Amino acid sequence: MTAPKYVEPSGDQKAGYLHYKRPASPWEIFLKEEGIPVYHGIGMRDSRDLPRAPWARQGGKATYIQLIGTNNDTGMYCWELPGRGSSEVIHHFYEERFIVLNGRGSTEVWKEGSSAKTTFEWQPWSVFSIPLNAYFRVVNASSGPAIILAVNTAPRIVNMFQSKSFTFNNPYNFEDRFGGNLEDYWKPAEDYEAHPVQGRAQLTTNLFPDAQNCYLPLDNNRAPGFRWVYPQMVGNTVLGGFIAEYPPGRYAKAHHHGSGAVLVCMRGKGYSITWPSKEGGLTPFQDGKGDLVLWQEYWEGGMISAAPTGNPNETWFHQHFAISSGPFRVFNYTGGSAFGVAGPGQEGDMVAGIGAEITDGGRAIPYHMEDPFLRKHFEERLKENSGSFDMPEEVYTEAGASIRVMSD
Ligand SMILES: [Fe+2]
Repeated sequence: MTAPKYVEPSGDQKAGYLHYKRPASPWEIFLKEEGIPVYHGIGMRDSRDLPRAPWARQGGKATYIQLIGTNNDTGMYCWELPGRGSSEVIHHFYEERFIVLNGRGSTEVWKEGSSAKTTFEWQPWSVFSIPLNAYFRVVNASSGPAIILAVNTAPRIVNMFQSKSFTFNNPYNFEDRFGGNLEDYWKPAEDYEAHPVQGRAQLTTNLFPDAQNCYLPLDNNRAPGFRWVYPQMVGNTVLGGFIAEYPPGRYAKAHHHGSGAVLVCMRGKGYSITWPSKEGGLTPFQDGKGDLVLWQEYWEGGMISAAPTGNPNETWFHQHFAISSGPFRVFNYTGGSAFGVAGPGQEGDMVAGIGAEITDGGRAIPYHMEDPFLRKHFEERLKENSGSFDMPEEVYTEAGASIRVMSD
């Protein structure tokens, strides 16, 4: 389509339109061309319940999942490979990470210009990532379907370069991410390190054989007894996030930030609530603004967009509640690896860590300042689910707010 000729306004009239419709982004056009369903929403109980359709590009059947707040940022899909079936050979210039929900199998990964394949095996709740721009093929060894959740940075690359050939047919090898001696490349690591910027736990591993049951170190930042690790995988610079766990009968302090994080439940059952921080304030129910609060219950395979806003100037408070009889484990699998690496401001600026509360320059509401409805409601939900309330009473006092380390 050729653009119409520009006509200058006359006098002091403004050029162009004061209001106009936002066009589809290259990523949104790409999604339509893929020929599989696209799910929109703030989350769902179990992503396996979403309808899937045959997918020519990667093989098997799939649905895209584009939660509110992730648009043009991260791509997600729920993918089914038939029993004893395998995917097409896949190769793309974006980071990608997978969580296995059902089935067992293996993945072959290799480089441009090399026939030597590296291979690893996976089972339910394995988490693996494919090195940027490597070739790979996923093979389902089970007799039934394998179902795998994926997250990637495709929207950024598709939007930035607007070239399928660049995205899917680029010969560049990232030797720094997938090079040298690859013999132990997929050997899972178990030694937790302190993250150099925040000092919290990180694990540098390209594969979690069982991220549902693996050990998670004590962290305490979001709740007493909260466990947490930052997974540093295949040299990814964008896909970071965290795996976190709430003890049964406990819940997170509310905290606020912009959109992007998606929590996938890997163990147990819970619910999350989220509301716009400026509009809803600290105590939305008490202030008659309860209708601004969005709720999502989810269990293994389900998810929520923690701050579901499309507005870059807006932050949302969110809070997660463990209602299962066992721990509630979630994977923020879209989360960035920024960790103070690429934040706003200048080098050397002080950044409030996630454990910092609003009374201490942070973004979290201490329990003693939260909306009283939340605890009451949580106690009721626990009763319905045969769980029991297990928050230590002292966290509801001002003194308790400054307790940084607590035992289980
Ligand atoms: Fe968050």
